[in-house]
Amino acid sequence: MSVSSRALLALVALSSMSLAKEVGYFDSSSCADPKGFASCYENVDTTYANCVNNNCAGGGELCYSSCGGSTSCMNEQCPGLGIDCTKACECERSALQIDCAGQSCWNRVYSCEYQATVLDYLSFCSSPDRDGLPYWPTPDDAPDSCSCNTGQIEQKEYLIVNQMDVCSNNQTNIGRIMTDVDAITEYGQACVCCAFSAIISAIWGTCPDTQPSLLAADEWFAGLLNPGHWEDCGPFLEKYDCGGDLGFGRIDAGGITKFYTPGSLPTNGTKSLYNVDGVISNPVSGDVLTWTFRSTLVHAVTVPSADATVTGTKATGGSDVTAATAAASTATGKAESDVKPGMGSSLIVPSWTIAGIVGILVLLTL
Ligand SMILES: *[C@@H]1O[C@H](CO)[C@@H](O)[C@H](O)[C@H]1NC(C)=O
Ligand SMILES: *[C@@H]1O[C@H](CO)[C@@H](O)[C@H](O)[C@H]1NC(C)=O
Repeated sequence: MSVSSRALLALVALSSMSLAKEVGYFDSSSCADPKGFASCYENVDTTYANCVNNNCAGGGELCYSSCGGSTSCMNEQCPGLGIDCTKACECERSALQIDCAGQSCWNRVYSCEYQATVLDYLSFCSSPDRDGLPYWPTPDDAPDSCSCNTGQIEQKEYLIVNQMDVCSNNQTNIGRIMTDVDAITEYGQACVCCAFSAIISAIWGTCPDTQPSLLAADEWFAGLLNPGHWEDCGPFLEKYDCGGDLGFGRIDAGGITKFYTPGSLPTNGTKSLYNVDGVISNPVSGDVLTWTFRSTLVHAVTVPSADATVTGTKATGGSDVTAATAAASTATGKAESDVKPGMGSSLIVPSWTIAGIVGILVLLTL
């Protein structure tokens, strides 16, 4: 599942590469330093190629060039390279791409494109230092920011899945030590149902206007909620207090307050992802951007702001993905900052989630 979503991601990345000005997820001409940004990405690609060729076993070089550097392709065509090895290289590449943005595209660090870049980093790196990431998640009401705060969604999902584990392992949550196997199973199922409901809340509640399929909703259903029998969760959600007793309302557990049942799903948003109005005219970080990569490695990037001229970007109201009658759209013309309709947010269901939940589901069926 995560492999196919990654392949999809690579496809999106690949198709955008064929357009001249597109560098990674960005249109480089929108960056404060377009040339610097493009050459930064070129250097990163070289570093990545060297990483794969020098570290991953089994004819890396040939594979790398036949795959045009696509990680999902390499994982499929040359499994001998080792998925972990190519993933580690990809993790490093994503980190360096974040540096490129901070250095040469500092005026776009709240954009959908930047968010997609950081989401890649979070999906490729095995235990990233989430708190050390720069401009992450995007603060509220930031200029030129993405219409949907995908960083906030990702963070909530991460905390919810953690809480699912904490909840399942803590029977004192409901005020008693359970010895009866049926009661333990029921309690475990309640933890899972609360987590599923919280994930729906994180997606639909954070970005109610955005089409949920752009926010990996279908993947969560296919990968977790459907196999976990979400459709049977109604009675558990009525009987248990997910937010209070089971802990999902705590801020460090995702801070979810609204728990949907299978019969009461929220309405789907219809909009694509786009960047709202506003201009960042000076580097938010100042002259040096510092952030931590894997808790010990500090990246320090000098931000050349002196000669940069940042022109404003215009925002559209976002295109309506499903309906052609975009009457509500407040479009103000073609916007440079608009993300291509259909560009995913790069939110995926991370593989650690699946491993975790499969463990819990196996326990429940014992
Ligand atoms: C288990 O839940 C109870 C009640 O919510 C809480 O006081 C306790 O700290 C939790 N224990 C652990 C190990 O998380
Ligand atoms: C709402 O979105 C979800 C996720 O993409 C999809 O599974 C569902 O069918 C949609 N519902 C409607 C009524 O379109």
